[in-house]
Amino acid sequence: MPRPTALITGASSGIGTELARVFARNGYDLIIAARREARLNDLVAELGSTVTVHPVAVDLAKSRGPRKLFDAVAELGLEVDVLVNNAGVISTVPMLDADGGSLTEMINLNVRALTELSHHYGRKMVGRGYGRILNVASVASFQPVPGMSVYAASKAFVLSLTESLSEELRGTGVTVTALCPGPTRTEMAAALEDAGLVSWFLADARSVAREGFDACRAGQVIRVPGIANQALVSWSQYQPRWLVRALGGLAARSTDFLKPVR
Ligand SMILES: NC(=O)c1ccc[n+]([C@@H]2O[C@H](COP(=O)([O-])OP(=O)(O)OC[C@H]3O[C@@H](n4cnc5c(N)ncnc54)[C@H](OP(=O)(O)O)[C@@H]3O)[C@@H](O)[C@H]2O)c1
Repeated sequence: MPRPTALITGASSGIGTELARVFARNGYDLIIAARREARLNDLVAELGSTVTVHPVAVDLAKSRGPRKLFDAVAELGLEVDVLVNNAGVISTVPMLDADGGSLTEMINLNVRALTELSHHYGRKMVGRGYGRILNVASVASFQPVPGMSVYAASKAFVLSLTESLSEELRGTGVTVTALCPGPTRTEMAAALEDAGLVSWFLADARSVAREGFDACRAGQVIRVPGIANQALVSWSQYQPRWLVRALGGLAARSTDFLKPVR
């Protein structure tokens, strides 16, 4: 029987690399996508003796990025059984201090590419009557985060889309899952550490990826890894929005996230 195929974006580092490893350990062939081709080739060398791994070097923040990926996958003649929308970037400066181009790039990757990939492969999965989509959201999906406003808004989009789509696809054989990690030790986390988060607060990418894989396989809609993150998310769900917002602002000011706008 042919092995199923998982398409994983942002597989060149962090949670994406660990997702590639866990899918490979569970017998999936892989299509791995990111910009850094050398990193993708390292992963091919590491995993290629047990499963087939196809690297696709692509910038998904570019307007033609998702189309380039669709074409590469079509050329390989592969069906995508599992789509993992993991690629994402963060900005940890107050919105008005950020360069406008970097905000657009973040929205293009975190929101637009994820939407286009889900639409394209979601349709194919429904046509076949089977498939899984795993979207990497964040604990930041559940409340506004002053100091990371556009990032948090992009992750709120990912969670909302996942929940709506999972209902739209009920009964089709296709499930949609949002993995919502808290701070996790990756290249992205270096930016969070620079912004004042202490290192003991960081989860390990391998266990986060494992939770994502398990939730995706089970067709669970939302998975928040770690008891502390679950407590934070539950707490914020049951508070008035003004309180959550105000405490977020207070926390951001006390950790240097918010500097005066010039
Ligand atoms: N680390 C955390 O604390 C944390 C917490 C919650 C959620 N998350 C989410 O987890 C996901 C993975 O992040 P991570 O922490 O593992 O960070 P990471 O190590 O920085 O990985 C990000 C991945 O996205 C890829 N990527 C970035 N820009 C891209 C672009 N324009 N086109 C294609 N690929 C691009 C990167 O590859 P290239 O640079 O090679 O393109 C890399 O493989 C993200 O969606 C992030 O928002 C992370």
